[in-house]
Amino acid sequence: MAVTLRNGICMPLIGFGTFRIKGRETILNCLEVALKAGYRLIDSAVIYHNEEDIGSALEELLPKCNLLRTDLFLTSKLSPRNQGYQPCIESVKKSLGFLKTDYLDLYLIHWPGTGGKKVDNVVNIQMRQESWRALEDCYDKGLIKAIGVSNYCLKHLEEMKSYARTLPHVLQVEHHPHYVQSELVEYCIQHKIHYQAYSSLGTTIEGKCNPLLNDEVVQDVAKIYKKSPAQILLRWATQQGIGVLPKSLDPIHIKENLELDFVMDDKDISRLNALDTRCKYAWDPSIVI
Ligand SMILES: NC(=O)c1ccc[n+]([C@@H]2O[C@H](COP(=O)([O-])OP(=O)(O)OC[C@H]3O[C@@H](n4cnc5c(N)ncnc54)[C@H](OP(=O)(O)O)[C@@H]3O)[C@@H](O)[C@H]2O)c1
Repeated sequence: MAVTLRNGICMPLIGFGTFRIKGRETILNCLEVALKAGYRLIDSAVIYHNEEDIGSALEELLPKCNLLRTDLFLTSKLSPRNQGYQPCIESVKKSLGFLKTDYLDLYLIHWPGTGGKKVDNVVNIQMRQESWRALEDCYDKGLIKAIGVSNYCLKHLEEMKSYARTLPHVLQVEHHPHYVQSELVEYCIQHKIHYQAYSSLGTTIEGKCNPLLNDEVVQDVAKIYKKSPAQILLRWATQQGIGVLPKSLDPIHIKENLELDFVMDDKDISRLNALDTRCKYAWDPSIVI
């Protein structure tokens, strides 16, 4: 399953999330399972501190899996600490070096705020504007095939119209049945911005039962389709054209999360939509000016 971005770039709808996956051996093992299962999109970020290990793992795995760099779609993201024109340019170069590639398929501004600045400081606006100008320049040079933003709310996206030469190709935000962002989805459709969800499975909650995977309705729908709750949550998104980035360290889960070739009835999609409780499992960008 893939989508074609506004600029003609083809992007897989399902990617492999790598938040909290660290360490050379761990990365190597799970990427080997993921690539062999068929994942082609790998979602990383400067703040995950795993780009270098992903780069080394890919160097070893691509020939082993009979794949070329062009078969992959690599995403990374600017750290809030590197906001600003020059720091963003440097950050892109560093990501390219760590990932051992001469282009990135997608680079995102990870967060509308700047590291070390209070969320209500107006300097945040200027800094993300400068970072965007840097990404536009990297895009023009072909260093990045598509550019986008993450954790931007409607207000942050609307503001971009006043300064962007190129509007984002992709928006990556938290989205799942407990936190449905319908207005943002609609905005993206209207502006031809691909909407990609993160934490589709309710993220990793150490030592606690995952409220999304264990939601009674999710479990009930899973029984109807004879699928796992994770597959229901992922299919709920992809059937609506929303990208997903499931993260797993478990080989069985990694494979299962890619097996989404079933169709859910509209009434079941609606049942899941109705679970919206405005319950976020990740950080809240609405507090950033
Ligand atoms: N832009 C941003 O600010 C942002 C924020 C958060 C995440 N992200 C991206 O989105 C990706 C996904 O989000 P996330 O890391 O928050 O977590 P997630 O994918 O929502 O959930 C991961 C959790 O689900 C479990 N899991 C995975 N597949 C499963 C299955 N089939 N059955 C049961 N449990 C399963 C995993 O455990 P096991 O390891 O045991 O399978 C793990 O504990 C991230 O890795 C990252 O790439 C971006």
